[in-house]
Amino acid sequence: MNQVKANAGIVGIGIYVPEKILTNDELEKMVDTSDEWIKTRTGIAQRRVASDHEYTSDLAVKAAWNALKDANLHPQEVELIIVATITPDMHSPSTACIVQDKIGAVNAAAFDINAACSGFVYALTVANQFITTGCYNNALVIGAETLSKITDWTDRTTCVLFGDGAGAAVLQAVEDNKGILSTHIGADGSMGKHLTIPNLHIDSEKLNNHPSANPRVICMDGPEVFKFAVKIMPEATLKVLEKAGLSIDDVDVIIPHQANLRIVDSAAKRLNIRKDKLFINLERYGNTSAASIPIALYEAVKEGLIRSNDVVVLVGFGGGLTWASAVVRWI
Ligand code: ACO
Repeated sequence: MNQVKANAGIVGIGIYVPEKILTNDELEKMVDTSDEWIKTRTGIAQRRVASDHEYTSDLAVKAAWNALKDANLHPQEVELIIVATITPDMHSPSTACIVQDKIGAVNAAAFDINAACSGFVYALTVANQFITTGCYNNALVIGAETLSKITDWTDRTTCVLFGDGAGAAVLQAVEDNKGILSTHIGADGSMGKHLTIPNLHIDSEKLNNHPSANPRVICMDGPEVFKFAVKIMPEATLKVLEKAGLSIDDVDVIIPHQANLRIVDSAAKRLNIRKDKLFINLERYGNTSAASIPIALYEAVKEGLIRSNDVVVLVGFGGGLTWASAVVRWI
């Protein structure tokens, strides 16, 4: 066992998004929708879509390389890899094991986490435990998705929402009072039926218990998830701040899960916080599930919106239904 350290901080961050852009105008030709409906109901203008031969691990590996470079860490030094995804390449091996092999992180333990759009912050929470207990010195945490592969492209109620991408963060022990100050994760499985991706082999009896279920594609009761989201986003934000001994007035930047502009606006209102404190990039990527928070965090950092000592809240919700939040004092 290594020496117990105080906090885990994000010391490197990187992203990768597929080259192909799918615009709202192109979607208009695929389903009965319009650029105007999508923009006013969601805020999304375009999303990235992986090519036929590009899988979640491919995006995750590219994001991982970028984060490792940013952290100046060699793959063989990595001790733990956690990939948050609901679109793994395979049931087994885990996407984390595929990444471990592809980047040559031969000394790392590796496993996946399935918490949908909350997945990255769930994974951050788990990695944080390993580092603060002194079990590992570092961890590579990745949120990566190819939702386009499980999207029903004839269903206008879901296909306009999602996009593909990956974001990765390197965690390491940092000085006291910096890095991850608190985390808060939760779930309400009784609401799971509102967002499902059933396996092909699931029996028909089970499917009948899930009114919206349809094998192998995302089925979502949008309005139910919306109601849940507008309630849980402010609650999870305030809870994690309370755990850190901080208040909403101490927050410099909030990185919310990028699902819908109306959800983010509602959270800002309920939290009584200036809208420009919530970073938004969903107009360019859509909802990339577990990748959404790390991609937004990366862009906020690179745009200079997050500086050393800033208090940053990461907050998400998603399938499960789940929620997750973290307070990070930027190193
Ligand atoms: N284009 C045009 N019309 C549409 C479209 C579309 N793409 N989709 C739905 N409509 C229609 C509906 O059929 C409905 O028509 P009707 O009134 O004639 O019945 C009307 O628009 C309104 O539909 P609603 O579903 O009530 O629209 P709403 O304002 O709730 O917006 C949305 C739908 C965008 C899905 C919203 O509910 C939402 O964002 N929900 C949250 C989703 C989310 O955040 N998921 C995150 C988790 S994802 C994860 O974990 C992987």
